[in-house]
Amino acid sequence: MPGTVLVGCQFGDEGKGKVVDVLAETADLVVRFNGGANAGHTVQVGQEQFAFRLLPSGIIRPNVLNVIGNGVVVDPAQLLEEIDALRKRGHAVENLRLSDRAHVVMPWHKVIDELEENAKGSMAAGTTKRGIGPAFEDKAGRWGFRVADLLDPVVLRKKLESFLPVKHRIVLALGGSDVFVLERIVNQYTGFGGRLREFVADASVVVNEALAAGKSVLFEGAQGTHLCVDHGIYPYGTSSDCVAGAATVGAGVGPGAIQRVIGVVKGFTSRVGAGPSPTEVEGPTADFLRDRGGGEYGTVTRRPRRVGWLDLVMLRMSARVNGLTDLAVTKIDVLGGLETVQAAIAYDHYDKELREFPANTRVLGECSPTYDEFDGWKDLPPEEWRRIAAKGFGALPNEAQKDLRWIEKELGARLAFVSVGRGREDTIDLRKASALPPKAAVPAEVKPPRKVEATKSKRSRRG
Ligand code: IMP
Repeated sequence: MPGTVLVGCQFGDEGKGKVVDVLAETADLVVRFNGGANAGHTVQVGQEQFAFRLLPSGIIRPNVLNVIGNGVVVDPAQLLEEIDALRKRGHAVENLRLSDRAHVVMPWHKVIDELEENAKGSMAAGTTKRGIGPAFEDKAGRWGFRVADLLDPVVLRKKLESFLPVKHRIVLALGGSDVFVLERIVNQYTGFGGRLREFVADASVVVNEALAAGKSVLFEGAQGTHLCVDHGIYPYGTSSDCVAGAATVGAGVGPGAIQRVIGVVKGFTSRVGAGPSPTEVEGPTADFLRDRGGGEYGTVTRRPRRVGWLDLVMLRMSARVNGLTDLAVTKIDVLGGLETVQAAIAYDHYDKELREFPANTRVLGECSPTYDEFDGWKDLPPEEWRRIAAKGFGALPNEAQKDLRWIEKELGARLAFVSVGRGREDTIDLRKASALPPKAAVPAEVKPPRKVEATKSKRSRRG
């Protein structure tokens, strides 16, 4: 059975973990295919909250096989910490498989991450300092270590003998003084290998066998399209590909394995780290979006997220480069209480309208978004949002319905999920016939939004 890929459409932190958890109810496999421990996927089950960095978000469902694909860079200490923490909370992790081809975060990666950030000055991305960039640099440069190497001390030692002196020179050149002791690394990393051995597999074989057996496979993307090393705002993103196509490379399946691509879109924009964010706002609206139940602080670094209005220029690009078939729109509850809700529909660049997202960061910094404005919807208590979710899409405030249908129309992908809270129950699944309004009725319902003059205050001054 063909698979489904789930990707973030903005700058990460769209609420992917929650949507994966909901989808995992009917999945047989959940497969992570990119990123590393820079991710922070939050799953709320009843009163229990989980924040996964490396473990796929289906791990707490015992009947779902969870696979960490070759496209992920694995920090073995972090992965073991997550496994131990889950076991301590009474969850077995026998349903985990780890690709023998996944690359490993080595001790110098975090050191170099920090040193490179310092050296880059204004070009620094504000990384999570998890060693992600340097691990991917080593992978591409053929200086890397794979999970398979942790199971073979001979290979591990041989590679270290060749690579370690060079890594020392790089650290020194970047102004560092750290010393990495070969024997210590051999012991530590073969120790990691020993503990992880039970999970290690040829992940591509596992996933392809599942697909051939007609099982349902969900590919879980990390970060977001605009952090993607190929399609994101460069160099202010991460070091792996975050788009749907990366699922095939990062899990070892052919393109024919992908049938649906679900894009997760948060009802507003947020970003941690540096770089342009054209619809960023400051002041009371920013405080509202950041603090009002949104918990808009980085899951990994706890840095406050920069927030702004929804940006359709970004999202149209996300729809295109990912080939989105479906949308999951999150945090609609968080927007409740705003008199009006805005969405950028184009950028104004010295009186020229840009409808496509520019690659040039200077141009991007000079753009003022042109906003459409919608009536806001009321602020409701969490229990009321939960009741609405149980009833279905038609129970949402009318204004929210219109906004969501407008987004669906603009992006040309089917609205499949709407999230109105943290829990599984706070989700409207529009794939269920009962919640799906007749498709023909959609365009008539969509009132043209009001145009809003672009204002200088809305211009992103970054980048
Ligand atoms: P790195 O991936 O740690 O190298 O960080 C590069 C940039 O991507 C920084 O701006 C990070 O804040 C951002 N980033 C990386 N992973 C995530 C994520 O999962 N969510 C949000 N931002 C992320």
